[in-house]
Amino acid sequence: MPERIRIIVDGRELHVDRGVTVAAAMMNAGIRAFRQSVSGEARGPLCGMGVCMECRVTINREPHCRSCQTLCEDGMEVQTR
Ligand code: FES
Repeated sequence: MPERIRIIVDGRELHVDRGVTVAAAMMNAGIRAFRQSVSGEARGPLCGMGVCMECRVTINREPHCRSCQTLCEDGMEVQTR
């Protein structure tokens, strides 16, 4: 059984399996808007393989991280805006 870890997304605590990407953890929690386009439209993961850049979020205060290419770490803080 995989180890469960905790991440925080916009102040919301999520308990996820270790080894899951941030994008997968957020999608599994029902989160679809990862960022906003310059015109204010909600954006979310499209390719799931690090190419489209639509899944960018702020992780531990580092902006523009591709959530589909980042594995969850215990205590990680994610912000969508
Ligand atoms: S979903 Fe396309 S880069 Fe992450």
